[in-house]
Amino acid sequence: MARVALSAALFTFVAGFTSALTIDERHAPVVRASLVRLSTITNTSNIVAQDNARLSKFKAGSEFVATGSGTAVNEVVTYIVKTVVGSQTFNLIVDTGSSNTWVGANTKYTPGSTSQSTGQTVSVTYGSGHGNEYIDLVSIGGEAVKQSIGVATSSNGFGGLDGILGLGPEGLTQNTLPTFMQNLLSQGKISTNVLGVSFAPLSGSASQASNGELTFGGVDSSRYTGSITFTNAIAPYWGVSPNQFKIGSVSLLGSASGIVDTGTTLIYIPSFVFTEFLLGTGGRSDSSTGLVKYRKKPSANFSFVIGGTTYTLAPDQYLVPAAQYGNFGLTSGAFYAVVADGGVQSPNMILGMSFLEYYYSVYDSTNNRIGLARAR
Ligand SMILES: *[C@@H]1O[C@H](CO)[C@@H](O)[C@H](O)[C@H]1NC(C)=O
Ligand SMILES: *[C@@H]1O[C@H](CO)[C@@H](O)[C@H](O)[C@H]1NC(C)=O
Repeated sequence: MARVALSAALFTFVAGFTSALTIDERHAPVVRASLVRLSTITNTSNIVAQDNARLSKFKAGSEFVATGSGTAVNEVVTYIVKTVVGSQTFNLIVDTGSSNTWVGANTKYTPGSTSQSTGQTVSVTYGSGHGNEYIDLVSIGGEAVKQSIGVATSSNGFGGLDGILGLGPEGLTQNTLPTFMQNLLSQGKISTNVLGVSFAPLSGSASQASNGELTFGGVDSSRYTGSITFTNAIAPYWGVSPNQFKIGSVSLLGSASGIVDTGTTLIYIPSFVFTEFLLGTGGRSDSSTGLVKYRKKPSANFSFVIGGTTYTLAPDQYLVPAAQYGNFGLTSGAFYAVVADGGVQSPNMILGMSFLEYYYSVYDSTNNRIGLARAR
């Protein structure tokens, strides 16, 4: 009860304090953290299995969504941020689809001089059992805040990573409140509750690269071109509502319920759009890879419209690059799309990493909106 009251009070303070500020990197201070993009996948079916487990959790309205939940597959495609907790360094998954911060999945958390047990247990949805709540100094990009964390007592599906940095909307959070973003703001490290996310595709045949960046408290204008267009965020996730789709010259009207999610690998589109996507691009669902497969390279662009703004992916942006086939267990002589069927039930569209590598994304809690701009 006490924690709920505290967070409500904090939210009021935050909203009152920052409403006059616009998001711009000139409104220092901002905190920057570089990312590592890692893929340890050996078979694309495992990406699909993990994404589908996650999508089912979203559809079930589960408050806790964790990468790896519902599957024992120990392979990951993810963006990782180095996070110091107390005196230990953890590799955490960057996750805008959940809001709790968790450690201890691989490297065990050892309580130190800065840690304080709250005596509370918190539910863990990956693996089995429960975790324990601690408050400790959590530091990213050189700035430390006092933060409540969940310490996993058991977990699976993390592929050797240590946990999650939850960057979802604060309304999604259960336990471990306030969120890391709220603490950065209330502890004076940033002046507006805005997160900018820059992802970039792996180049050549690399399976790992230092190629992304988080900007806490603003955006990094060197990471996108043109301007950022904003749309109201639809609770409880970082939700968006596209209402028009285009595959080549075919236009479709109809609404989708989408989530901008850094923890999903592929791009999921509603079934009614997916059917047209297969027709318009000349692909078929391939059971052995779980992906859409083509004999001939498709030429149709795929677009969708949110709030009057069109977001387009050209074939080279929705196909797995040939140089990456080795990392995905794919064989040459065919083409594969990173676009999959999101089903009918809401949410039925996920803008995952494969989309976010071409679009810079902005998560603005202060103004309850989501921004997208073409990545540079
Ligand atoms: C990948 O996994 C799927 C499902 O388990 C299997 O059918 C397929 O043969 C596997 N592919 C490779 C290249 O091992
Ligand atoms: C496809 O999209 C790309 C990138 O947005 C654009 O440059 C190109 O003109 C589009 N092609 C067609 C046929 O619309």
